[in-house]
Amino acid sequence: MLLVTGGCGFIGSNFIHLLRRERPDLEILNLDLLTYAGNLENLAALEGDEKLQFVKGDIADSRFVENLFETKDIDQIVHFAAESHVDRSILGPGIFIRSNIQGTQVLLEAARKNWSEGEGRFVMVSTDEVYGSLGPTGLFREDTPLDPSSPYSASKASADLICQSYFRTFGFPVVNTRCSNNYGPYQFPEKLIPLIILRAGRDESLPVYGDGLNIRDWIHVEDHCRGILAVLDGGELGKVYNIGSDNERTNIEIIRLILDNLGKSEDLIEFVKDRPGHDRRYAMDSTFIEQSLGWRPEVDFSEGIAATIKWYRDNPEWLERVISGAYKEYYSRQYGSK
Ligand code: NAD
Ligand code: TYD
Repeated sequence: MLLVTGGCGFIGSNFIHLLRRERPDLEILNLDLLTYAGNLENLAALEGDEKLQFVKGDIADSRFVENLFETKDIDQIVHFAAESHVDRSILGPGIFIRSNIQGTQVLLEAARKNWSEGEGRFVMVSTDEVYGSLGPTGLFREDTPLDPSSPYSASKASADLICQSYFRTFGFPVVNTRCSNNYGPYQFPEKLIPLIILRAGRDESLPVYGDGLNIRDWIHVEDHCRGILAVLDGGELGKVYNIGSDNERTNIEIIRLILDNLGKSEDLIEFVKDRPGHDRRYAMDSTFIEQSLGWRPEVDFSEGIAATIKWYRDNPEWLERVISGAYKEYYSRQYGSK
């Protein structure tokens, strides 16, 4: 059985949808704490799927996680669960240390205790943000030194290093992915793209940090998920795989594109105080995964972003329920007081 942690979040839910299309017979166990970012409604289309189980729980709770390993036959893990928003990590770093660092170590330890030699595979899903900020040229490679700027990226870098220490010290079967900024359906509207779609749709001001010229390498979530699957299937243990889309855009360019698509005025743009420690530029070199596993990004950005904007426009009730908090009711309706 494959354990997916954080399967109710943005990328985790997209990954489960992809798995269901590609691996209809795979037994999946989705473990999620259902924090503000965890939305079980993201998987509502898979209701009744007997090969998909959900369990609510905290990856940092060692007793709970150990018990899960004792009662379920878990032989693979794709680990998404994390606090994921940089701005929240600036407001309150503590939960990032607990969920992202301690939570990862608890999972590693439970798997290590339960897996015999030669058994199991753990994919640690991480981010390009662990490499810090690039100047105007150059790309992040897998051997670029880690130099995180925010409590979020520092917590992910720490978790990455703990994973690698488990490989080197214990021969634990872990492999690491690091991806650039994702866009697509089911993203919580605190992140740039859904936030701008939402606010522009309501004719609200659009907050642009600093000069708006920070650069991100945007990848469609589906391409990221296919990359993770390729690494789960064939990635070499102990290695790191960068996943990016050669698609560098400034924030202001992204915002103008969304405004143009929605037919809204650029007068909505409002430059605000910069994010402290704001990384200037991220850009990935994905040569390793392309050459070794044959993965390539497939979604063209102009098509992917147009489809993404359409998805949010076509699903106003999803957005409304996230904003109002109504999506939380779904869990009690489905699972009662469990
Ligand atoms: P998200 O915030 O949308 O989802 C995170 C999920 O993890 C939520 O469902 C939440 O309930 C769950 N979770 C949080 N703490 C937990 C805990 N203690 N125990 C169990 N579940 C918990 O995040 P996302 O954007 O889907 O990112 C998923 C992973 O991918 C993260 O590890 C993130 O660092 C990484 N990543 C994200 C991006 C991106 O652009 N979003 C890019 C590269 C890597
Ligand atoms: P975000 O979606 O938070 O992702 P990350 O910080 O992990 O890259 O932000 C993407 C970029 O957009 C980043 O440079 C910060 C910027 N940004 C704004 O300018 N305004 C906003 O309201 C937000 C949320 C982000």
